[in-house]
Amino acid sequence: MDRIKVFSPGSITNLSCGYDVLGVCLENRGDEIEVHKSISKGIEIESIDNYNISNNIDENVAGIAAQAMLKNIDIDFGFKIIINKGIKPGSGIGSSAASSAGTVYAINQLLNSHFDNLDLVRFSMEGENFVSGSYHADNVAPIILGGITLVRSISDLDIIKLPSPKSLEVIIIRPNIEIKTSDSRRVVKKKVKIEKMVQQSANLGAFISSLYSEDFDLMSRSVVDEIVEPDRSMLIPEFESIKKISTESGALSCGISGSGPSIFALSNNSETSKIILNNVCSHLDKVKIDYDSFISKVNPKGIKILD
Ligand code: HSE
Repeated sequence: MDRIKVFSPGSITNLSCGYDVLGVCLENRGDEIEVHKSISKGIEIESIDNYNISNNIDENVAGIAAQAMLKNIDIDFGFKIIINKGIKPGSGIGSSAASSAGTVYAINQLLNSHFDNLDLVRFSMEGENFVSGSYHADNVAPIILGGITLVRSISDLDIIKLPSPKSLEVIIIRPNIEIKTSDSRRVVKKKVKIEKMVQQSANLGAFISSLYSEDFDLMSRSVVDEIVEPDRSMLIPEFESIKKISTESGALSCGISGSGPSIFALSNNSETSKIILNNVCSHLDKVKIDYDSFISKVNPKGIKILD
């Protein structure tokens, strides 16, 4: 095989109660990444987008992840990577993760799956570190493994794939502004009161239990963030109104997707999801905020081979 094209989907992370550890693979939105084997060694990137993303392999997350990968294998050929960005950078739905994970996944296919999924997570994290200033695997893990994942440790890469209730839906509202992950991480306080830590641990445990039991009332009570959301929500226009409208419209919960500005709401009923989306969009139209919005089921498979 000399070429491959993959769809590398968006993802939401944190889910309010699991900062840097929980992630959900989405079905909608994603990058299309085509990789060709080339005679010359090394990596070459062509990025097709309107976002001014650098094609320099030392400045593009896909190039950084691919180079981390190629340091671990001795081959006498290289790769040309063509990235058609379907996710706006700085949107909070895993734009950099889609490019870095999709690229190493595609290259690995051309290397006859020389590396395993955890290796791919490790290489992709180099891209995440470049863009955000710290290592985290909560976006790349669910798109490589599919479904909902919990990253217990990034140092020894201990990642658990959790159950995804079939009826669970995610409503995404993305106000059309860019928030750099590095900026959004900077506003997060570095010290947490012990009482908040206790509550967050309880919420995270209860959320995971709710995925196994499909107890949506418990899920609703658990997807709460008293630690990061208060600091980050100030960066997001209309956050409090969107949250209020979503919960009043029947959302199980509502919070910041990743580092924002996207906002997620959870629902376990398609009709309710449409009502939530409709009510939030009417509000944003009224206050004249530009946005993108969609509803997605949990994507159980992750990155998909297109051709
Ligand atoms: N967990 C990360 C954050 C995701 O919230 O900063 C951003 O990529």
